[in-house]
Amino acid sequence: MAGTFKTEKIGIVGSGLIGRSWAMLFASVGYQVTVFDIIPKQVTDALADIKVQLKTLEKDGLLRGKLNADQQFQCIKGSSDLATAVKNAVLVQECVPEDLDLKKKVYQDLDKVVDDNTILSSSTSCILPSKFSEGLKHKAQVIVSHPVNPPYYVPLVEIVPAPWTKPELAKKTKEIMLEIGQEPVLLSREIDGFVLNRIQYAILNEVWRLVSDGVVNVEDIDKVISEGLGMRYAFLGSLETAHLNAEGMKNYIERYGETIYNVSNTFGENPRMTQSESAASICQQLNKMVPIDRLQERRAWRDACLTRLSILKKTMKETYKK
Ligand code: NAI
Repeated sequence: MAGTFKTEKIGIVGSGLIGRSWAMLFASVGYQVTVFDIIPKQVTDALADIKVQLKTLEKDGLLRGKLNADQQFQCIKGSSDLATAVKNAVLVQECVPEDLDLKKKVYQDLDKVVDDNTILSSSTSCILPSKFSEGLKHKAQVIVSHPVNPPYYVPLVEIVPAPWTKPELAKKTKEIMLEIGQEPVLLSREIDGFVLNRIQYAILNEVWRLVSDGVVNVEDIDKVISEGLGMRYAFLGSLETAHLNAEGMKNYIERYGETIYNVSNTFGENPRMTQSESAASICQQLNKMVPIDRLQERRAWRDACLTRLSILKKTMKETYKK
């Protein structure tokens, strides 16, 4: 079935890695997307790159949405003027570098030109939305939609409201994310690290402690995740994993609750990586596993794995309707 173009507009502010991905995701369902960047050449480069990416995805059978690659590309335009890029937009996705002062400046600029109903959605990985929206005339329109790299294959989006974000705007943001095929989770309030990074840091901390204490080496601890926990976690969260690992969660609590509490009490202090004596050894082991000049190659391998995993997940959902 042929796809359809939409008349609603989306503005993208910042056309780096994440801005390009968002532009493709919004265009995949036919939104009229305008990409703005402070450096005009970045916009030209972004459009050229997006065109190649869409064509490659189409050739590989991985293109999202119902429009073909040319039609999706037609939906994306560039602009060297912020006001033009965001005028009449349903949503503006901000994707400028992770720097609080820069974000504040960009939101002050946006505040002057944005309409009263436009959602101002930030891609920030860890800056609380209240920090860059406080004092703005349009602060009730600001929210965080934090993607996970690469967003084309990893669908989670954390939606984080500031204390003054209008609730109906959070709901609308969630609907738009669902519409473009992402998997949004809506937090009830802002919190340092949001949810994904809080969990990621909890894991990193224990991994660091175990390697520092000489219990396992870097290669083996990473294997615990990639060949163990991660296999399940690609499909199930930790709570459902527990529910299935016993005769339901109530039974899991009865069986393992006290053990988990007692083991957790042995975790020790949070490591401070910048001052840790183990840092040199951990870096050395990692550089041996993946030399710095081969990071790009390994990232390409990671993305290829994620592509295939996303196809498998989609097939499993369609087959088992879950
Ligand atoms: P990037 O450095 O690749 O791109 C940033 C773009 O913003 C550049 O094209 C730059 O020219 C432009 N820019 C700088 N100042 C600007 C301004 N005043 N107005 C308009 N454009 C401006 O950054 P990336 O990786 O795309 O990250 C963007 C945001 O997304 C950051 O907040 C980051 O934390 C977040 N994010 C990044 C992820 C990643 O893995 N790279 C994952 C999830 C979120």
